[in-house]
Amino acid sequence: MSAVSAVVLALCFLGIYMPAPSLATSSGNNDFIRCLLPDVPSQLVLTPGSPSFKPVLVSSIRNARFVAPATTRPPLCIVTPTNASHVQAAVRCGRAHGVRLRVRSGGHDTEGISSRSQRPEVFAIVDLANLHDVHVNPQEATAWVDSGATLGELYYAVAKAAPGLGFPAGVCPTVGVGGHLSGGGQGLMMRKYGLAADNIVDATFVDADGNLLPDKKAMGDDLFWAIRGGGGGSFGIVLSFKVRLAPVPPTVTFFSVTRSMDQGAVEAVTKWQTVAPALPDDLTVRVNVQQRQANFQSLYLGNCSAVVATLRDRLPELGVTQADCREMSWLQYAAYIYFGDAINSTPPEVLLLNRTLTLGRFYKNKSDYVNKALTKDEWEKIFTWPSGGAVEGQLVLEPHGGRMGSIADADTPFPHRGGVLYNIQYVESWNGNSSTPSWVNTLYDFMEPLVSKNPRAAYANYRDLGIGVNKQVHVGGVSSYQSGKVWGERYFGGKNFKRLAMIKGRVDAGDYFRNEQSVPPLHL
Ligand SMILES: Cc1cc2nc3c(=O)[nH]c(=O)nc-3n(C[C@H](O)[C@H](O)[C@H](O)COP(=O)(O)OP(=O)(O)OC[C@H]3O[C@@H](n4cnc5c(N)ncnc54)[C@H](O)[C@@H]3O)c2cc1C
Ligand SMILES: *[C@@H]1O[C@H](CO)[C@@H](O)[C@H](O)[C@H]1NC(C)=O
Ligand SMILES: *[C@@H]1O[C@H](CO)[C@@H](O)[C@H](O)[C@H]1NC(C)=O
Ligand SMILES: *[C@@H]1O[C@H](CO)[C@@H](O)[C@H](O)[C@H]1NC(C)=O
Ligand SMILES: *[C@@H]1O[C@H](CO)[C@@H](O)[C@H](O)[C@H]1NC(C)=O
Ligand SMILES: *[C@@H]1O[C@H](CO)[C@@H](O)[C@H](O)[C@H]1NC(C)=O
Repeated sequence: MSAVSAVVLALCFLGIYMPAPSLATSSGNNDFIRCLLPDVPSQLVLTPGSPSFKPVLVSSIRNARFVAPATTRPPLCIVTPTNASHVQAAVRCGRAHGVRLRVRSGGHDTEGISSRSQRPEVFAIVDLANLHDVHVNPQEATAWVDSGATLGELYYAVAKAAPGLGFPAGVCPTVGVGGHLSGGGQGLMMRKYGLAADNIVDATFVDADGNLLPDKKAMGDDLFWAIRGGGGGSFGIVLSFKVRLAPVPPTVTFFSVTRSMDQGAVEAVTKWQTVAPALPDDLTVRVNVQQRQANFQSLYLGNCSAVVATLRDRLPELGVTQADCREMSWLQYAAYIYFGDAINSTPPEVLLLNRTLTLGRFYKNKSDYVNKALTKDEWEKIFTWPSGGAVEGQLVLEPHGGRMGSIADADTPFPHRGGVLYNIQYVESWNGNSSTPSWVNTLYDFMEPLVSKNPRAAYANYRDLGIGVNKQVHVGGVSSYQSGKVWGERYFGGKNFKRLAMIKGRVDAGDYFRNEQSVPPLHL
């Protein structure tokens, strides 16, 4: 293990095991619920005794790693608001009675912190799934979307109301708008249109005092900057975002080409590293590396013939032909990229609007950004990295360049812009029988000299508590800036992290919205 990761681990343990007092006595807990009831109908407050408590608690958890902890140290209750005043009441009562809130939109947090707390604290979940309206304004090419909507619901509403428009965000349709847009939102149109967060033009927000801030003017420039990529769970609760929609052509093209190591996969990925970020910005080619194979997949905003011609010229190693292509509408693509051939038998709206999850395997993910291409030898080691049998390791490589490279690091909290060739998501999955991830941690150590440095960057939306967690200034006190810097500078860069912490110091000085990786308040 490298020196750096040893330090990170040590901090991590300190953070998790620091004793902290329970925030509320049991009478305080009842007081919290009693406080809610004048403003929130009782059927919207689920306590552990209620039959729907457990089904709702696990409803948006898809990683098996989080189900048991969430149910063994469950929240005091789950508040399921149907309007803004319920959310305001939860914040006011939580503050008055020492109950922390975990806000949940789509529940896809990669460390599960919207559903569980690793701290000895009394907390309630505010689950926004009932707030999921999407209002599209085709003339203006904008939409207001509630935080509790999923990406699938957003994509469907946009395509229905405004054919010819789409929205640049992630590929998994059950991901929630609230968390995804708060942390950035990388997807297959980011090379042309930027992140989801780059396309936020307004928002409504409940602050740490329970005030409703109806627009960005009420929020002020700093807070409005912070919520466009500074990560969910730190500043308050976003109720809805107004987003700018993006033109999409009637036909987009998917292709899929798989190469084994014998078929030149290593050579193709090595070349892809510099070719993909420099392709025309309406062509994105991402790579999945798994089981010693590389699978190349595209989104092209146009017809197949142009893709074939471009790749024949720029990446002939793939040998893409007309037969590898599939042309479809942008709406069909949104379903196809995730569900594949299921779209042949099930209409895209059924797939995209389905919020029911099946519980998946156990997952541990990490991320990196790459600024300098790796060599063929290095890729060969990565392709053959031992996985120990019980686990499955997968790398997802998404190219940057295009619009991503032309936005300044300070324009939003998300700093991974100019100079980035691509990002890596490491995905390790296993079944319940093998208990700790192994492939991902050893490979991550190996990669350290090959990826971004000072600090080694990571993506806030691929949350990884392994890179550091907050410690409190003193027992029960606010999160310390020094402990936050360890993970925060990797997600946001030094300057942006400091600005986020100063904004936090102004809007939530007492650190009410705090969790294992929330932005700590900084007062200068
Ligand atoms: C299967 C899967 C696929 C994914 N694919 C992509 C992808 O293609 N591209 C990409 O960029 N990311 C992707 N992600 C990561 C995803 O963007 C993040 O996990 C995102 O934060 C999830 O948002 P959520 O609302 O579903 O999560 P939640 O768990 O509800 O929230 C995540 C965090 O934000 C906070 N939060 C939630 N709602 C609000 C709100 N309204 N106001 C303030 N804070 C809030 C939560 O407290 C938590 O800290 C994927 C994740 C999964 C599990
Ligand atoms: C929210 O719902 C409550 C009922 O629980 C209702 O009294 C209140 O008027 C609603 N508020 C808004 C802003 O719609
Ligand atoms: C890790 O990424 C994979 C692929 O994107 C996803 O299916 C899985 O849910 C993620 N893991 C976690 C912990 O969210
Ligand atoms: C692209 O596809 C559309 C829809 O199939 C078709 O109308 C158009 O003529 C095609 N354009 C080219 C250049 O092939
Ligand atoms: C919705 O998704 C769940 C989980 O994957 C699945 O079991 C169910 O059949 C789906 N429903 C529809 C209508 O497709
Ligand atoms: C886990 O291990 C048990 C006992 O060895 C075995 O019966 C079971 O099939 C395993 N489960 C999975 C999902 O591999």
